[in-house]
Amino acid sequence: MRTVRSKSDLLKALSPAWAAGEPIALVPTMGFFHAGHLRLMREAKKSRALVVVSLFVNPTQFGAGEDLDRYPRNEARDAELAAGEGVDILFAPGVDEMYSRGPTTWVEVPGLSGCLCGRTRPGHFRGVATVVAKLLNLVRPAVAFFGAKDFQQTVIIKRMVADLDFPVEVRTVPTVREEDGLAMSSRNGYLSPEERRAASLIPQAMDVGRRAWSAGATPEKTRQAVGAVLARSPLLRVDYVAVVHPETLEERMDSGGPALLALAVYAGATRLIDNLLLP
Ligand code: PAF
Repeated sequence: MRTVRSKSDLLKALSPAWAAGEPIALVPTMGFFHAGHLRLMREAKKSRALVVVSLFVNPTQFGAGEDLDRYPRNEARDAELAAGEGVDILFAPGVDEMYSRGPTTWVEVPGLSGCLCGRTRPGHFRGVATVVAKLLNLVRPAVAFFGAKDFQQTVIIKRMVADLDFPVEVRTVPTVREEDGLAMSSRNGYLSPEERRAASLIPQAMDVGRRAWSAGATPEKTRQAVGAVLARSPLLRVDYVAVVHPETLEERMDSGGPALLALAVYAGATRLIDNLLLP
C-alpha cells in the first residue's frame, strides 16, 4: 500500500489506472479505523477495483464548539489496518492541501440537509458534500462506499451524485455493531464506562421501535416507545427521534410503507447517531 499526501502525487499514482480504464473504488474516511471502516474496505476489495481509502478529518464539516480538535487520530495504526485489508492507496492529505485556497466554493443539498442531524449541526452536510465532491473529482472512482450508520449522509451524497452527474455508483454498507448492538463509531471512545453502559439502551430502544412499528404503531407511538427506553438513563439526552421516509427524509405521518427510524442521542457530552430501516 502506498500513502500519498498531495493531489499531484495522487494524480501520478492513479494515472495508469485511469489510462487503462481500470476501475477504482473509493472509501472516504476520517480515520481512526474500527470494524465498520474495515468492512467498507472489504466491500471495496470485493469489487475487484483498485482501492483508494481517503483519510482526512475534514474541518468544514465540524461546527464551532464541536470536536474537530480532539477528534481521534492515529494514522500509523490506520495505515497498518488499511494495508492489512489490501488497500492499494491511502490518500492522507493535510488541510492546506485539500483546501489550499480556502473553502470558497460549496456544494449544498439544501432540502435533505436541514432536517434530522442538520438541525443540530447546521453547515455539517455542506462540509460533507463539498469534501466528498472534491474526493470524487480527485480519485474519479467507479464506485464509492459509505456506511449506513450515517444514513442521512448517504442520502445526501446519492442526491448530489445524481444532481451533478458524477459518474460514480454510491454503495451503502450495513452498520457494524458492538456485541450489545451499539453502532461502531470513532466517537464511542469518548464515552466514560457509565456512559458506555447507558449507550447500550440505544440499540434496545431501536429494537422496541422496530417491534412497535411492526405491530402497526403510528410514527408518533413508535417515537414514544423509543423515547421511553432512552429515558431510562439520566445520562442520555435525546436530540431527536424521528420516523422518516428513507429517500426524502420527510417525517412519516402514518404507519406502513417505507420508513427509517433515526435518532441522535447525547451520552454525556458525546452525540451518538443510529438508524434502522423499518420493515
Ligand atoms: O463519514 C465520514 O467519515 C465523513 O463524513 C466523510 C464521508 C469521510 C467526509 O468527510
